[in-house]
Order: sequence, then structure tokens, then C-alpha cells
Amino acid sequence: MIITLHLKLLLLFIFLLFLTNTSQLVFAKEQYNVSEACRITRYPDLCISSLAPFSLSEGRSLSKWARLGVSVTISEVKSVQTYLTRLKRQGHFKRRNKVALSDCIETFQYALDELHRSLSVLRRLSKSTFSTQMEDLNTWLSAALSDEDTCLDGFESNKERKIKLMRNQVLKAYYITSNALAFVNKLATTGLGSISDLDP
Ligand SMILES: *[C@@H]1O[C@H](CO)[C@@H](O)[C@H](O)[C@H]1NC(C)=O
Repeated sequence: MIITLHLKLLLLFIFLLFLTNTSQLVFAKEQYNVSEACRITRYPDLCISSLAPFSLSEGRSLSKWARLGVSVTISEVKSVQTYLTRLKRQGHFKRRNKVALSDCIETFQYALDELHRSLSVLRRLSKSTFSTQMEDLNTWLSAALSDEDTCLDGFESNKERKIKLMRNQVLKAYYITSNALAFVNKLATTGLGSISDLDP
């Protein structure tokens, strides 16, 4: 009699333990405000200033932050590309730097293509293809980062003012891309549990 009572209590205990664990999973924090979301990035101040205009008081899920991060990166990369194209038209860069500038505009185009591809994946996240989607996103966003980095390789005499200014613009695009990649990596490790708005 006493043994069965103990057994029942034990079972009840295990059952409660199970309930607590699953409820933690089910009710895991789904909404992050801008400062919480940006804490996981490498450049949190830039993250906050670039995302704050789009942040909501009730917060967003990780998948929404990843999508927003990539959208904001696309605008930034586009605007730097426009700036680089204008520099090229003005014709101040000579010889080796002139060639480097043209190469840079081209690598920015690759980065832009990879970012657009990433955004379209983030717009149709699905449970059945989640891990492949996360791999693709990591590949394309890493490639975009490396393209932006390659852009700066060809320039000489970095002390020149115009080159310094250009370098800062390109680096800003690089940092913002890195932040978007951090969201995607966090989404990949947190996994499906954190997402409530997925297609099956
Ligand atoms: C974000 O949430 C934290 C609590 O988790 C709070 O301390 C902080 O003030 C919030 N930040 C913003 C910008 O709402």
C-alpha cells in the first residue's frame, strides 16, 4: 500500500517535472526588443541605431529580427553602392585605386544578390526545410561579408581622405551585414522552438 503510494507520488513528480520542462519550451521567450536582440551581435551600438527606427514596443521574434536585419542590410549596401558609383563617375581615383573602385562596385553587386537571396529564404521559412534554409542563409550571408571585405583589398594609400571616407562607408555595410548574420546564426541554434509563425 505504502509502496504504491510512493510509486504514485513518484509518477506524479515525474509528470510534473515533464510538464514544467515542456511548458518552458512552449512558453520560451519569443519576443525580443531591440536592445535584447542586438545584444547577440558583434556591433550592438550600430545594430540598435540601424534597427531602432523599425523596432516595436512589444518586441519581435528572432525570425522577424533576422528578416529585418537583412532588409536593413540591403538598403545599406545599396546606398554604399550608389555612393561608390558616384565616386567612380567623379573620376578622382587614379590608376590602381580606379581599378580597385570598379572591382569594389562589382563585389558589392555580388553581395547584394546574396542578400536578396537570403531575404527571400527568410520570407518563406518552413519547418520541413529549416536546416537547409539555415545552411543556405549562412553560406550567402558569409559570402556577402567576404565580398564586402574583398572590396577594400585593392586600394593603396589609405591615408588619402577620400579613401578613408570610402573605407568607413564600406566598413559600415560590413558591420551591418555581420549583425544580420548573427541574428541568422542565433535563429539556427535556437531552432524551431523559438518560432511560432512558421509554415508547416
Ligand atoms: C528591453 O527589455 C528589457 C527587459 O528585458 C528592458 O530592461 C529594456 O529597457 C527594454 N529596452 C527597450 C528599448 O525597450
